[in-house]
Amino acid sequence: MNNAFLKSYRVLHDIYANRAFSAIALNRELSDCKKSDRALITKIVYGVPDNDIRLEHILSAYVHKMPKDDVLLFLKMGIYCLDSLSLPVYTVVNDIAELSKLSGDIRTVGFVNATLKNISRHIADFDNYPTEPIARLSVVYSYPEWAVRKLVKDYGMDVAEQIVSFRSDTRTTARFVEKCTAQDISARYGVEAEAAPLDGAFYIKGALPQDDSCTVQSLSSMAIARVCARLTGERGSFLDCCAAPGGKSVYVKQLLPDTSVTACDIHPHRVALIDSYAERMHVDVRTLCRDMTEPCEQWQEKFDTVLCDVPCSGYGVVDSRPDIKLFRENKDISELMKKQYAILDNCARFVKPGGALVYSTCTVFDNENGQNVRKFLKQHPEYTYGELPLREVPQADGKGCYQFLPYKDGMQGFFVAVLRRIR
Ligand SMILES: C[S@@+](CC[C@H](N)C(=O)[O-])C[C@H]1O[C@@H](n2cnc3c(N)ncnc32)[C@H](O)[C@@H]1O
Repeated sequence: MNNAFLKSYRVLHDIYANRAFSAIALNRELSDCKKSDRALITKIVYGVPDNDIRLEHILSAYVHKMPKDDVLLFLKMGIYCLDSLSLPVYTVVNDIAELSKLSGDIRTVGFVNATLKNISRHIADFDNYPTEPIARLSVVYSYPEWAVRKLVKDYGMDVAEQIVSFRSDTRTTARFVEKCTAQDISARYGVEAEAAPLDGAFYIKGALPQDDSCTVQSLSSMAIARVCARLTGERGSFLDCCAAPGGKSVYVKQLLPDTSVTACDIHPHRVALIDSYAERMHVDVRTLCRDMTEPCEQWQEKFDTVLCDVPCSGYGVVDSRPDIKLFRENKDISELMKKQYAILDNCARFVKPGGALVYSTCTVFDNENGQNVRKFLKQHPEYTYGELPLREVPQADGKGCYQFLPYKDGMQGFFVAVLRRIR
């Protein structure tokens, strides 16, 4: 059996059947895997969920009825490999049919073989996509229709198309504790490195050590931590309300060693992640397991800066988490908005007069971003927009809030707002 296909199938099965996170499920399979197979497995594991809607649409043109989930997954893998990878057709059809023996049903093997053979003859010319604009964007770029509809409402058709059609490269970004150049990193760690748009950050190809010298972190997460550090200043007090796994809290503490950093999260197992990350980076972060929608008397007006990096739909990071497009539903958004607002509304009390409340998400929907902030400012006259200090990103610097869009900003689609407490 083709080992790369088998491993890819196991990861994909975990994602589709158990809602596993792509990166976690993938790393488990890659740990004992031939180097030559790694790139192919990674491509298939990210590519199939990323193209899910389109793959199902193509399949629907060749079957009378959608097969059940297990069989469907073999076919999606096969169609993805035929359509997007330069593998020999013969290998794809035969090896995926062979793989489908895992179903334990010989009829499935025949069906998978015949269907893929048939599709392989026509796939290069396939253009049977819907003509209605929203349905077309949804199918061609594999975004759920409800998400396309929201984007069109928030940004208009042209920008919505740019958002859904853009795919960033999936290199990781990392920052290093000591000042260094891309050449230093390549020489020291044996990985390919290239300077990223944020000072001190690098694009990395290859595996980095899990020690105290460097840390993998998205550019957007680094940028928000820098905003928080600048707003707080040395010897200040910083509260991170939704802090796990600790990316921003730890970086703020590294930037401001004499500032007190308090990091909270609602889940004990996630608070433990902040503790172990802070320990690895040798910084002192005070952690607490707390529901930040609950009041806390002793924290009233205590902190210079409070960050609410709230749980969100994740639609700004679907490139690195394509599983989000599979499972997040439109009906989740109103629940999320309520939770986000409850956290923001409660934590506003913990900011000193003159201090800053930072609201951030990793999504591109206005419901979860601007709409929450506008509602907050209406209900909290003691707050107004403050300035976003992000000089490394001129298009965002100095504004009260900014929506990053990967296709134009070269960073994940996060949102950040600075709210200044004026009394
Ligand atoms: C977007 S993540 C935070 C990422 C983090 N700021 C970082 O940079 O590593 C949102 C976090 O909010 C936590 N959370 C959700 N509801 C919460 C609540 N009511 N109170 C505190 N934390 C909450 C989740 O457990 C999750 O860890």
